[in-house]
Amino acid sequence: MPYPKFQGYSAYLTRERERNLPRYAHIVGWGKYVPDKILTNDDLSELVDTSDEWILARTGVSERRIAGPKESTFTMSLRAAQEALEVANMDPRELDLIIVCTATPDYPFPATACLVQDALGATRAGAFDLEAACSGFIYALSIASQMIATGAYEHVLIIGAETFSRVLDWTDRGTCVLFGDGAGAFLLQASDAPGGVLSFVLGSDGSGGQLLIIPAGGSRQPASLDTVTRRLHFVQMRGREVFRFASRIMSKAAREAIRAAKLTTDDIDLFVPHQANLRIILSSAKDLGLPMERVFVNVEKYGNTSAASIPIAFCEAIEQERLKPGDHVVLVGFGAGLTWAAAVVKWRVPLPAPPPPRRGRFWRSLRYRWARLRSLLRRLRRRVASWWSRIRRE
Ligand code: UT7
Repeated sequence: MPYPKFQGYSAYLTRERERNLPRYAHIVGWGKYVPDKILTNDDLSELVDTSDEWILARTGVSERRIAGPKESTFTMSLRAAQEALEVANMDPRELDLIIVCTATPDYPFPATACLVQDALGATRAGAFDLEAACSGFIYALSIASQMIATGAYEHVLIIGAETFSRVLDWTDRGTCVLFGDGAGAFLLQASDAPGGVLSFVLGSDGSGGQLLIIPAGGSRQPASLDTVTRRLHFVQMRGREVFRFASRIMSKAAREAIRAAKLTTDDIDLFVPHQANLRIILSSAKDLGLPMERVFVNVEKYGNTSAASIPIAFCEAIEQERLKPGDHVVLVGFGAGLTWAAAVVKWRVPLPAPPPPRRGRFWRSLRYRWARLRSLLRRLRRRVASWWSRIRRE
């Protein structure tokens, strides 16, 4: 389909909206951030009764990244988001919505997405967190694509970010060897060019909620001396049962999403599964009849980064040039809840280019500095206003 002659980006968007054409959500920006600190299997064998051989054979993980003392889900989200904006060459003020998918937010509230909104200076954007554990990123992708398809929004930033190292019991070898920290982000943009997110499938089975859980810290068992001494604020998992569920659901969800996109598995160029365990990935690929050349795996480097695992894997697939224009990609996740989700994406349909001037790296870095100052001034103004109203009352 020929593109309209380019006459300026916002003119193009306005015209597109006016024409009321079907709208597609395209991934135009992507970014990832992983902490520098590497924890190897050998390092872990000094903490718990395990070995490099066992971890590698049972999970495929060699090492994982661990957040430094100054890092958190927010700081990693911000880095991934800034990289995605850089790739898309977009001003953060153009964002309409920011979703952060995480099971390890900085606070129960405010949402980590609001912290990201403030730090980016995304002054027009709504922001919220989404919790669907390791399936979260695809849940967010489906929400973002529907927000765009209805014509409500033009630009949506979705981030998957986790700091699991802070909720792991480092004395439990059944869980601490599996997870790692990191963040990944997609920037989705509306267009009338067919492509982008073609289909999605979401699912849940709450009867399996106890299989993977942090029992305390919520309203049912608030933090107390007892919950802390019983180590109830850490991840607990019945690994074998989660494994059985995952091996069954990954290929099923992928197949449903492929069917919903009116494709067959032969049309799939790359399978980007949630990176939890190499054995689960291999069994799903086998079920789907996909050769390993069409499957992306990086679990050996990062372990299971939960909601961040799919966007991190996707970014690395791009870096390694595993994707070419027009490719169909299947993304599949599963996790606590129990939840699962799959989506089919048509990769990189060329879109009218956003205008390059003014929006360069330099202006964006100034904008981030200004966002910090603006945030500080707003906090100060609130403090002065409350001090002033107290004085007037007295
Ligand atoms: O995002 C979703 C997150 N969760 C998952 O995807 C987890 C899915 N489950 C799994 O990946 C696997 O079940 C695990 C990797 C967690 C465990 O592998 P497994 O092959 O299912 O092992 P298992 O739980 O059946 O345990 C086998 C043995 C046990 O010893 P015994 O009882 O047979 O003597 C465990 O105590 O391995 C032992 N074991 C370990 N040994 C050395 C468990 N963890 C370790 C360890 N090092 N880290």
